[in-house]
Amino acid sequence: MAKNDDNLLKKIVSHSKEYGFIFPSSEIYDGLAATYDYGQNGVELKNNIKQYWWKAMVQMNENIVGIDSAIFMHPTTWKASGHVDAFNDPLIDNKDSKKRYRADVLVEDHIAKIEGKIAKEVAKAAKRFGDAFNEDEFVSTNGRVVGYKEKIAAIEKRMQAAIDTQNYADFKALIEDLDIFCPVSGSKNWTDVRQFNLMFSTELGSVAGDASTIYLRPETAQGIFVNYLNVQKSGRMKLPFGIAQIGKAFRNEIIARQFIFRMREFEQMEMQFFVKPGDELDWYEKWKEKRMKWHKALGLGDNSYRFHDHLNLAHYANAAADIEYDFPMGFKELEGIHSRTDFDLTAHENHSGKKLQFFDPQENKNYVPYVVETSIGLDRMFLAVLSAAYNEETLEDGSERVVLNIPPALAPTKVAVLPLTKKDGLPEKARELINKLKFDFTAQYDEKDAIGKRYRRQDAIGTPFCVTIDHQTLEDNTVTIRNRDSMEQVRVPMEEVRTTLEKGTSLTDLLRKN
Ligand code: GAP
Repeated sequence: MAKNDDNLLKKIVSHSKEYGFIFPSSEIYDGLAATYDYGQNGVELKNNIKQYWWKAMVQMNENIVGIDSAIFMHPTTWKASGHVDAFNDPLIDNKDSKKRYRADVLVEDHIAKIEGKIAKEVAKAAKRFGDAFNEDEFVSTNGRVVGYKEKIAAIEKRMQAAIDTQNYADFKALIEDLDIFCPVSGSKNWTDVRQFNLMFSTELGSVAGDASTIYLRPETAQGIFVNYLNVQKSGRMKLPFGIAQIGKAFRNEIIARQFIFRMREFEQMEMQFFVKPGDELDWYEKWKEKRMKWHKALGLGDNSYRFHDHLNLAHYANAAADIEYDFPMGFKELEGIHSRTDFDLTAHENHSGKKLQFFDPQENKNYVPYVVETSIGLDRMFLAVLSAAYNEETLEDGSERVVLNIPPALAPTKVAVLPLTKKDGLPEKARELINKLKFDFTAQYDEKDAIGKRYRRQDAIGTPFCVTIDHQTLEDNTVTIRNRDSMEQVRVPMEEVRTTLEKGTSLTDLLRKN
């Protein structure tokens, strides 16, 4: 069952701000809608997620290499990719409130309300039948639920047809037929539905008349496609091979909301895997499996993921699926795996007049490779980790703690070193340990407040280990190590701290599970 916990999302937003993970952008000017800044802990977590992805994709695969292409690209890139003509959202305005909405989101919200009714029926029946309740059977046989499901299917079909055929008059008619009203004005006084391109544009060059429109890239993938031949030739790559990239992407999302889930400036981690035509569906299946394994290795909960296979494929794809994660708002897209055929490379060949092919020595011929793409939003991955990690616990003594059970390999700070008191040489001993550890581990020193309070502070930022230096340390060079999750403390020789950290926060072990 999906989480759908608005309260949890609110708690994550405020915890993120209080503990230096994510701040609203330019907050002193009241912020900028749907734009966020990563703070001192956020940037560490983000970098660790990037590293996990980069190592799993590039370092662990001898046939995958990385690039870092420019955000600005020749404007024809976006003509070739289809973004200039087809990267649009259907918009509608309410004439009374003057508020603008994405037409498909209005319809989706309406569908969510019907899904809510189904969930209520299920909850009622579960209560009535107790242990004997079989949810699958109930939802497929109960008349009311079946009726709701048919209604949803009919709405989805009509909306998809309106999008596919660009029949915006029917899109508007659908909104009217469903009696959807503006949540602000409460009226159903709608404008026509029209298209809005999601790319941000700007001018290149400062001389008037000499400037030309360029776009902030809406995906990193095109930087990979236009470099296909450069990488293939300079790296002497043979099919199948992949090119990976992490970088910013920009989309003028109309409804940017749900914290960092949908932003106007965000980061993608994308990999294009070039294969021999005909092999693409095998590779598509392999990449689906590999990417799911990457997610599950983190231990955020196997039931928190599911595949959503696309039934209505984009014109260039012959297979596509999302990996959905059970965010606090319910199951939503986290990553896409797409079999994109030769659409992009052929389009770039046609628009540039340059051949983007591979000479296959076995077949003794040139052809345009097919592409399987894996594309994950870094910020969404960040939100997935945070929402799985956030826990409020009541301890045995009745006190409460908020702990981030972040997978230790991704934790912003790996160890906190805490002198029990500020005197008697304990701070010096603590600094001595930090100075040894800091080359390999992110470490924090903290001497302020009672030790319990310091533990709570580290729990709140997800530090897996706290090392306490006390008077006994001065006598026998032993320290206590406290484990974040179990809160157990063990006394060990100081030299063993490194081994505990190596074992307990190992990225290598995580990669081995892939
Ligand atoms: N090259 C393929 C591509 O860009 P996409 O489904 O449009 O595909 C891929 O985007 C991923 O990028 C999504 O699965 C999502 O995680 C992330 N993403 C897309 N739009 C986003 C936004 N506005 N804010 C945050 N992440 C976004």
